[in-house]
Amino acid sequence: MESGPSTVRLLSGNGPDHEEARGLVLRFLGGDVGSDPYPVLNRIRQAGPVWVRDDLLVLSSRAHCEAALRATDTAPASAGACPVSAARLRRAADRAFSADAVTDLAPLVRRLVDDRLDSVAARGRLEAVSDLAHPLPMAVLSHLLGLPASDAQWLHRRAVALAPALDPGPAGTGTAGPANLAGSRQAETELEAYFAEAVERRRRNGGDDLLSRLIRVDDGGERLTDAKTASVGRFLLGAGYETTAALVSGSVLALLRAPQEIDTVRKDPGHAGHVVEETLRLDPPLQMVQRRASADLDLCGTPVARGTLMVLLLAAAHRDPALASSPDVFAPDGASPHLAFGAGRHHCLGAPLARLVARTVLVRFTQRVLGPRFALGSPSYRPAGALRGLRALWVDADGFAGRDLPWPEPPA
Ligand code: HEM
Repeated sequence: MESGPSTVRLLSGNGPDHEEARGLVLRFLGGDVGSDPYPVLNRIRQAGPVWVRDDLLVLSSRAHCEAALRATDTAPASAGACPVSAARLRRAADRAFSADAVTDLAPLVRRLVDDRLDSVAARGRLEAVSDLAHPLPMAVLSHLLGLPASDAQWLHRRAVALAPALDPGPAGTGTAGPANLAGSRQAETELEAYFAEAVERRRRNGGDDLLSRLIRVDDGGERLTDAKTASVGRFLLGAGYETTAALVSGSVLALLRAPQEIDTVRKDPGHAGHVVEETLRLDPPLQMVQRRASADLDLCGTPVARGTLMVLLLAAAHRDPALASSPDVFAPDGASPHLAFGAGRHHCLGAPLARLVARTVLVRFTQRVLGPRFALGSPSYRPAGALRGLRALWVDADGFAGRDLPWPEPPA
C-alpha cells in the first residue's frame, strides 16, 4: 500500500518523498536510529503526514499532533491504555496528583534527593541513572501507593519490562520484537497479581495511601472493582516510573552539555524549571503516543477514516520550525512549548510530580555536586522505542557538599 485514503501532499519542496519518508518511519518505529533519532525525525516531519499502511498514519508536525491529541473523536491506542481515564477514577486520582498534593510531597522529595547524594558522596562520582533517576521516582511512587521500600528492586525489573508494550512497532508487534513483548506481558501479569494482593490487604486493613482511597471511590453507589483498582496501581507505575527517570537523567545530561547552566541554576534555583521544560521539548521521554480515530476526522486538512491508528511523533513535533527559529538548539529561556505530557482530555496526570522530582534533583545537583563533568565514556541509551531514556550517565566531581546547605523557598 503506497499511500492511504488521502494521498499525501508533500509540505516542503526539499523534503523527502513519501516512499523515503515511509522507509524512515519504519526505521524509527523499528528502533533502528541509533542514539540520536532527531535527524530522522526531522526528515519525517518535512514529508508531512505519512501513511505506513491504509489504516496506519504517522503525524509529526506540531499542528497535526496537537490536533490529534485534542480531537474528541479519538481514543488512546497503546497496549496499556489508561484505566484512570474513566471519569470518576480520573477525579479521584486528580486529587492525589493535584498541584497542592504535589507541593506537600516537596519535603519528602528533598529528603530523598539528599539521601541519594549522601550515599554516593564517598565514592566521589555518581551514575545519574542508577543513583538518582531510578530510585527517586520509585521511592515517591511507592510512598503514594503505600508500597514497601523493600519491593523496589522487584518493581523496578517489572516496570522496565513493561516499556515495549508502549511501542506500536511497524506491524503493531512492538519495536523490540515479540520476545520482549512476551516479557512485557509477563511483567504486566505479575504486577496485576502484586497490586491485586495490595488492594486486598487494604480492603481488610484500611489505609490512607492512593490505593486505599481509590478503593473508597464511590460514584452514585457504584464501587470500583478490586481488579480495576489493581490495574490503576499497575498503570501508574508503568506510566510514571521510567518516564520520570528518563526526565531526571535527561535533565542532568542537559546540564552537563551546557555547563554555563549549572552556575545559572545554582544562583537562581527557579531556572531549574526552564532546564526541565527545555529537556522535555528537545529530548522527550515519551517520543510518541498513539490514537485510534473513533469517527471520520479532518486533521488540519488531512482526512482520517474511522478506525485509523495514528502514531503521533511528539519528539518530531517539538522541533517544528513553525514554533521557533532554531528548534534544534537547547535554549532554556522559559519559552519551551511542548506536548511532552500530551494535551486535551488525556493530559498527563503525573506532570506536576515528574516536574517536582526533576527540578529538585537539578537544584541540589548544582549545589552539592562540585565541578560536575562527564566521566569517561559517552552516555548510552536503552534500545529506542516510544520511551527514550539513558541507560547510564557517569558523572565525575571534585567533591560533594554536605546536606546542610539551605534549600531555596518556595520549593522548586
Ligand atoms: C516525565 C515524566 C512523564 C511523561 C513524559 C509523561 C507523559 C505522558 C503523556 C505524553 C501522556 C498522554 C498519553 C496520551 O495522550 O496517550 C501521559 C498520560 C498519563 N500519565 Fe504521564 N508522563 C510522565 C509522568 C507521569 C507520572 C509520574 C504519572 C503518575 C504517577 C503519570 C500518569 C499518567 C496517567 C495516569 C496518564 C493518562 C491520563 C489519561 O488518559 O487521562 N505520568 N503521560
